Amino acid sequence: RTFRIAAIPADGVGVEVVAAGRAVLDALASASGGAFAFDWTEFPWGCGYYEKTGRMMDDDGLEALRDFDAIYFGAVGWPTVPDHVSLWGLRLRICQNFDQWANVRPVHFHPGVVPPLRKADHTELDWVVVRENSEGEYAGFGGRNLAGRGPGNEVALQTALFTEKGCERIMRFAFDLARTRTRRKVSSVTKSNAQQYGMVLWDEVFARVARDYPDVETESVLVDAMSAKFVLRPEDLSVVVASNLNADILSDLGSALAGSLGLAASANLNPERRFPSMFEPVHGSAPDIAGQGLANPIGAIGSAALMLDHLGLPEEAERLRKAIDATTGAGVLTRDVGGSATTDQVVAGVIERLGL
Ligand code: NAI
Ligand code: MG
Repeated sequence: RTFRIAAIPADGVGVEVVAAGRAVLDALASASGGAFAFDWTEFPWGCGYYEKTGRMMDDDGLEALRDFDAIYFGAVGWPTVPDHVSLWGLRLRICQNFDQWANVRPVHFHPGVVPPLRKADHTELDWVVVRENSEGEYAGFGGRNLAGRGPGNEVALQTALFTEKGCERIMRFAFDLARTRTRRKVSSVTKSNAQQYGMVLWDEVFARVARDYPDVETESVLVDAMSAKFVLRPEDLSVVVASNLNADILSDLGSALAGSLGLAASANLNPERRFPSMFEPVHGSAPDIAGQGLANPIGAIGSAALMLDHLGLPEEAERLRKAIDATTGAGVLTRDVGGSATTDQVVAGVIERLGL
């Protein structure tokens, strides 16, 4: 079967890591003896496109993406364009319009990578952060210069939206995921002591949904305490479900605990499969290292493995994950995780270890 994939490398290291992931996926496909193949269509959208056209993506871009089997994304953002313009104009536009309401971000130790905060007794760090990806703090509601107050007196409002249905679907997703894991536990994160409406609704829905999963252990933790727990008791977590903003922050912390932002993979899923899902590394466009061959491609390649799962190729996904582990385990590491390999050398290392 041929899978039609839309590639959107966008900006900075996004370009380098998407090329890396594509090379690995094509190597897998060409070794499959025709069992499956990837038909790539690359879209030139991003900040460079914005500077030329005034648009982050084409007006009919969503139409153009709709019929692909999946979207493989790099990272968006460049110093020449305000970040809220680039993020909303491309990545958030796709996530919201394609109802990719579940953002799945696995966090785990990688063989051969010794993160700065890893303690001898932290033999385990194996979580999945499940991020509510459609509403919450990033719902986009609010405004500036309200009540006609001008410069110096301006008032801005940024409102978080929590719906019972939105909370319930992400929690059921988290519980269902917990049931597939060795450790059946879901930790819910809020700040419901200070945010007394939306987050209290979140807590109530969590308690109600939990009753349908008596076999899954649960806990509710405030986000400040959870950030401490991430660092101090990583072995006590399995699935962590949190709102859009909280999970965004926690998953960057998680990837740093694992060793680098460059390692972390993610999937923006439309679980109903009415629209294509989107696979991307957690990190941004890293302008500080872009274009130098220094980008760690492991986050993007891990995202490609999540895409294989989604496309119904779990054995290929597993093969790819093993090759990633064997590569880091052999010390083929980029600079951010203490090595000296280039992006291309890591790609070659992974392809070599696919066991084909
Ligand atoms: P960033 O993730 O781009 O970089 C943070 C730090 O991590 C930098 O020191 C960078 O060098 C390092 N890093 C990131 N990815 C790496 C990789 N693959 N290999 C090695 N090191 C890596 O976050 P920052 O600097 O806050 O944002 C830069 C731009 O990216 C901004 O325009 C921001 O809006 C955008 N951004 C986009 C995201 C997306 O498209 N999903 C997510 C986060 C930020
Ligand atoms: Mg982030």
